[in-house]
Amino acid sequence: MFNRYAKALTLRQEESQLRSPRTYTPIDATHVMYEGSTYLMMASNNYLGLTHHPHVKERSLQAIQQYGTGSGGARLTSGSFPLFQELEARLAQWKECEKALTFTAGFMANLGTISALVNKGDIIFSDELNHASLIDGCRLSGAKVQVYPHRDVHALEPLLAEPMHYGMRFIITDGVFSMDGDIAPLPELLELAERYDALLIVDDAHATGVIGEGRGTAHHFHCESPRIITTGTMSKALGSIGGYVCGSQTIIDYIINHSRPFIFATALSPADIGASLGALEVLAQEPRVYQNLRSNTEYMHKALHSLGIPSSDETPIFPIIIGSNEGTLEASRLCEQEGIILSAIRPPTVPINTGRLRLTVTASHTKAELQKVIQVLQRLPIQKTL
Ligand SMILES: Cc1ncc(COP(=O)(O)O)c(C=O)c1O
Repeated sequence: MFNRYAKALTLRQEESQLRSPRTYTPIDATHVMYEGSTYLMMASNNYLGLTHHPHVKERSLQAIQQYGTGSGGARLTSGSFPLFQELEARLAQWKECEKALTFTAGFMANLGTISALVNKGDIIFSDELNHASLIDGCRLSGAKVQVYPHRDVHALEPLLAEPMHYGMRFIITDGVFSMDGDIAPLPELLELAERYDALLIVDDAHATGVIGEGRGTAHHFHCESPRIITTGTMSKALGSIGGYVCGSQTIIDYIINHSRPFIFATALSPADIGASLGALEVLAQEPRVYQNLRSNTEYMHKALHSLGIPSSDETPIFPIIIGSNEGTLEASRLCEQEGIILSAIRPPTVPINTGRLRLTVTASHTKAELQKVIQVLQRLPIQKTL
């Protein structure tokens, strides 16, 4: 009965693509215990180190004390407790949009936003390196999907120019691309969206707290338009969990009434909302945290540059390309022997032969720790294309 699953797993094993979760015990924002030893974590999305910030923890604990451990229902039935209003108002203010709405995860925000707003008969233009949750949202919508080459607005333009007799156009992109750390060309995409009357959906999962003074991609480029609908997550730089979408009042009201992942899922818990609120408060009140992330990002960029490893100084995601699956696993093991966790990212998460260590720096790493990482990287067989 389970033959086909067992066979598929064996195939994954043979191709060095088998994955299984490991249990790391967090010590603080940048260190974990694993099998009795302490490791430096260089692979997390905890960009601002807020999972262990005293104010964020305190806000989360307070929320449990006041409202309990679970929401007990969906938002449209019994699950909307007062912190939702507070968080959604804060998110809207932070992202400079009319309204925000939360989902139980960033994945759900993308599924729920795209499947609600896009209908059969519409057409989606999707960057080839978009995150799985955007891809699945596109599939769920039933619309035609045209994938355009990564960040290539020149290739996108003629696709948009094809005449359409009915339906709407949507351009969908990651803001900061999760596996490469590069940024979508938002001003050019917005210009195309305006010219061809399209809506532009931008996933700010890795941009929130990270670029544009922490406000994300639109703020980074000073782009403002009701055509831009932003999704994102509280699970990365905000140190909590839960997704969100930001847009006009009409868009949010429509999503509330049409999005199945919103309507048919239990609302986030008080602990999650409390932590997210705490994180947004830290972002607004402690500029030092964001500045530390910037400073560590620039430090790592300069160090990698001096090793001949290409990178950008705009985001804290540094793909260290190894190539083969086996080589990537070996490189990850070598780092581990040196006390550093750098996960091996392999296909299908990234294209074939671009296996990589996805190195991320956070606001909480010290320069001495980053220096240690550089020393270890020097000994790895890395594809250097500078
Ligand atoms: C670009 C992007 N979008 C969405 C998500 C989903 O967010 P979450 O993990 O909060 O469900 C992720 C997370 O892995 C992501 O990298």
